[in-house]
Amino acid sequence: MTPTRLALFLSLTRSVLSMVMHERISSVPPAFKLLGTPAPSQQIDLLVALVQSNMTGLEWVVEAVSTPSSPSYGQYLSADQVAQYVKPPAASVSTVLAWLGPNVASVTPYSPAGDILQVSLSIAQAEALFDTKFSTYTHMPSNGPPMIRAMNYSVPDVVQPHIQFVHPIVAFATRPRILAPFPQHVDDPRFNRRQLAPCEDIVRPVCLQEFYGLPNKTISSSADNKIGVQGYNDPSLGEYANLNDLSLFLGQFRPDIPATTSFQLVSLNGAKNLQDNSGGLEGQIDIQYTVGVAGGVPVTYLLDEGGDDAATSYMNTINWLLSQEHPPRVFTTSYGNEETDLTRSAATAVCNGYMQLAAMGISMIFASGDGGAADNQFGCTSFVPMFPPTCPYVTSVGGTFFQPPTAFQSSAGGFSNYFPVPRFQVADTQNYIKTAVHGAYSGMYNKSGRGFPDVAAEWEVYVVNAGGVTSIGGTSCASPIFASFIALVNDRLIAAGRPALGFLNPLLYSIGRAGLDDVVVGQSSGCSKSGTTGCVILGSPPDALTYKTNHRWNATTGWDPITGLGTPNFKGMLNALGLRD
Ligand SMILES: *[C@@H]1O[C@H](CO)[C@@H](O)[C@H](O)[C@H]1NC(C)=O
Ligand SMILES: *[C@@H]1O[C@H](CO)[C@@H](O)[C@H](O)[C@H]1NC(C)=O
Ligand SMILES: *[C@@H]1O[C@H](CO)[C@@H](O)[C@H](O)[C@H]1NC(C)=O
Ligand SMILES: *[C@@H]1O[C@H](CO)[C@@H](O)[C@H](O)[C@H]1NC(C)=O
Ligand SMILES: *[C@@H]1O[C@H](CO)[C@@H](O)[C@H](O)[C@H]1NC(C)=O
Repeated sequence: MTPTRLALFLSLTRSVLSMVMHERISSVPPAFKLLGTPAPSQQIDLLVALVQSNMTGLEWVVEAVSTPSSPSYGQYLSADQVAQYVKPPAASVSTVLAWLGPNVASVTPYSPAGDILQVSLSIAQAEALFDTKFSTYTHMPSNGPPMIRAMNYSVPDVVQPHIQFVHPIVAFATRPRILAPFPQHVDDPRFNRRQLAPCEDIVRPVCLQEFYGLPNKTISSSADNKIGVQGYNDPSLGEYANLNDLSLFLGQFRPDIPATTSFQLVSLNGAKNLQDNSGGLEGQIDIQYTVGVAGGVPVTYLLDEGGDDAATSYMNTINWLLSQEHPPRVFTTSYGNEETDLTRSAATAVCNGYMQLAAMGISMIFASGDGGAADNQFGCTSFVPMFPPTCPYVTSVGGTFFQPPTAFQSSAGGFSNYFPVPRFQVADTQNYIKTAVHGAYSGMYNKSGRGFPDVAAEWEVYVVNAGGVTSIGGTSCASPIFASFIALVNDRLIAAGRPALGFLNPLLYSIGRAGLDDVVVGQSSGCSKSGTTGCVILGSPPDALTYKTNHRWNATTGWDPITGLGTPNFKGMLNALGLRD
């Protein structure tokens, strides 16, 4: 049927359309409580993801522009070029618009390429259009906002081949959560001895410069080398980046750069970067350990008020990056979810978004998570992978103690159940499974899944919060530090007239290993089948932590699922890239 005839068919024969169930879940996850039924007149927004034209081609392009041995290494695509691969075929657009047209209040493009549409409609319209019943739920542990969801939805059989999914209907997930930073020594008296204190006591930017060989200034003065930092301004999280704390931090810990050095704020969905010091520590870590480590590289803080859903929160950032003429080259996020928080279709769509950013040469960097191998779950029978870290197109950062170099017990890592192991990594994960796991944990993890994290960095640092100095720990610290390392490498590349690093993994798993120091000591906390060996107690000093003693990963020579390939070595990375120190 031609698109025009199909449109006519859809508008005339609605009552006799043959509907097929497109996605369903068999039960609502136990953390969500049913609140009631939404009013039929209530307006909601849904995203309709259409089929894309050439994702196989884009995958091929990403490999070509990101693999150091490839002739087109570093020849990234523009956002417009990426859109040519992503935009849906014309017949799919006309079919979907004909179906939605008369039945919704409005349809607007959500993604720049038009592969995702935002549809506003009433509950009554949505129930008729998708042949389902909506209810209102809340996430009990976080006392989250009301969420309107259903357990399944259907679409006409003639429309089904043109869409990927409709979202969020069957997606039950919290927004991206803070990766549980561990407060350590609040207003530590040792800080008064800071002029003398060795880095063993108080890790601060000068220590990171020393451990990792990071330079204290940029040389390219290129405004194109920007770091983006994710913030989520959830009312229940209350994370903001405080300007006064940043200025105090720079005055204390980076006296060589002006204390007035700040960042550009970008607000999505009306987010406000409140300055009343009611915010938590995450915002302070993320901004202080980018502005304060990558001294001289401009920083953009992208603060999203967002909605009630994980995948949409990640997609908001992807769309913002896709629509920038000069997007940040490096982007760090210290928030995350468990992989199963997202439906497979939603996680795949988000990961496809990271693939598009990879084609544009953007390094997406994520904290791996702070729950060890099992996301702090008691009595679990399988390990718990984290998303976005399991998406192959992002670089995920675990945590280490710097001296002696040792894996941080709570550093999350493992293997994906959604994403198969990518080619650049397969030799490493197979080697780990063969030589370090020795057949243990059978059935507790997916041997053919993408392994994470990719790399690691220092897990505990000092920040200024609400005017005081405090230490804070977690992979939330490691991600901005690693992002700053990459931005400083980019500075040297740009100064040498070369393209910045884009999607990092094909480099890191090949010649880039020389720019990383392997961490071979330590274990992660894990998953106790009996649930009696204890788990990490959040907020306690490290000495008081008890760790699950069985079912955990070991750090080893080579890649491992606690510290990945290792920690930054600036000089080694310059050498690997053929640059002089
Ligand atoms: C998809 O992209 C690849 C890589 O650019 C290209 O070779 C191929 O012709 C494209 N396929 C279609 C159907 O456009
Ligand atoms: C579809 O969802 C509705 C409402 O959420 C539910 O009542 C019905 O049992 C579901 N049907 C199937 C086959 O899952
Ligand atoms: C910056 O680093 C260089 C080289 O390591 C060093 O000589 C210089 O003293 C440092 N400058 C400041 C202000 O820390
Ligand atoms: C294991 O990973 C593969 C590759 O991603 C996937 O196809 C499979 O469904 C996963 N198995 C389980 C049990 O999740
Ligand atoms: C991890 O290392 C310990 C010794 O440090 C060893 O007893 C244990 O078997 C190792 N675990 C695995 C899965 O190899």
